[in-house]
Amino acid sequence: MKLLALFALLSPVLSLAAVVSTSHSDATSKLAVEITSTKGPIVHSVDDLILVSTVTNHGEHPIKVVKYGGIVDDRQTESFIVRRGDQDIRFTGIHLLLTYDDEALYTSIAPGQSITTQHRVASSYDFQSVGAGEFTFIPIVRLSPGEHIEPLDASSTITVTVTDNVSTPQLEKRAAVSACTTNTTRQEILTAAYHESKMLAAEASRHVTFNPTGPLFTSYFKNNVPTTVSTIFTGVADEYVNARLISCADPFLMCRDNEVVAYTDVVTSNSYFCPKFFDQLPPHRLCSGSPVHEKNIRAAIVLHELTLVTSCSGARALSAPEQLVNGDNYNCFATEVYVRNNCP
Ligand SMILES: *[C@@H]1O[C@H](CO)[C@@H](O)[C@H](O)[C@H]1NC(C)=O
Ligand SMILES: *[C@@H]1O[C@H](CO)[C@@H](O)[C@H](O)[C@H]1NC(C)=O
Repeated sequence: MKLLALFALLSPVLSLAAVVSTSHSDATSKLAVEITSTKGPIVHSVDDLILVSTVTNHGEHPIKVVKYGGIVDDRQTESFIVRRGDQDIRFTGIHLLLTYDDEALYTSIAPGQSITTQHRVASSYDFQSVGAGEFTFIPIVRLSPGEHIEPLDASSTITVTVTDNVSTPQLEKRAAVSACTTNTTRQEILTAAYHESKMLAAEASRHVTFNPTGPLFTSYFKNNVPTTVSTIFTGVADEYVNARLISCADPFLMCRDNEVVAYTDVVTSNSYFCPKFFDQLPPHRLCSGSPVHEKNIRAAIVLHELTLVTSCSGARALSAPEQLVNGDNYNCFATEVYVRNNCP
């Protein structure tokens, strides 16, 4: 159940919702999203792409939106889908992993209230790959699982033309990247979780190989080609230890919010584990009362980050192409395989 909204809004179709209405009983609550470009519709450089979003509740009931990783988040997370014509521009920012079904994940917008957020998007999308020209920004609105949305129209997208400089600046690091040298307990937990994640991945890969059309596979990966999925698991299982940075540093200052467990820089694939991560559980706890859907197994969290990008039920509900790129499908699938293989 948790974070169903996050997964739902990852769907590009739903993200098109410019004005969305929530339909509990009657469609009385409406959320409008307005986007403006502070430097106007034509800018010289991607650096001038400073967009301001205003999310307003025009309805009669409060609406709960997810604070992180969507249109009300001002950081280098995915607040928009960006397009040149029909082509999606690759997101190059930060993917957050939020595990907790926690009230603190949401902010409630009262009737008549708005949330205004400024977004500097220059380093978050690969504008460079398509060159100067027109870009369309489609807001991603993430609602709490209790809110049901209905796209009404897409008028809140904004199109901005970049005439000249599309060279993508580096994501800004605000702190030195170090390993967990200041805390050996954390270093040990992270190392253990990394090795456990490889073990989970290896078991999952074997399960796919021997049960390519089994119910567990089809529930998480539908009609995806089993070898494609097993190759991704094998990739994690066989990864050379130094292939990417796995760190307890927080160079992008994403851990300041207690709900962020880990995050990954999608360009470098480096993953950073926040203090909350170190309270998570080793896999054997899956056999003693920690259900798969709680997603609090540290190895599975590492696996999620390693397989990139929600809930186990949400993961199953994704379309087949979305499942291939959703880290949660790998995470949840692998923990379910672990339970089948290891718990009495
Ligand atoms: C283009 O933008 C990049 C990133 O902001 C900047 O580093 C570079 O100096 C700019 N180049 C020119 C020619 O303005
Ligand atoms: C080291 O990490 C452990 C596990 O997160 C934590 O309980 C402990 O307080 C940390 N120690 C210091 C000195 O920060």
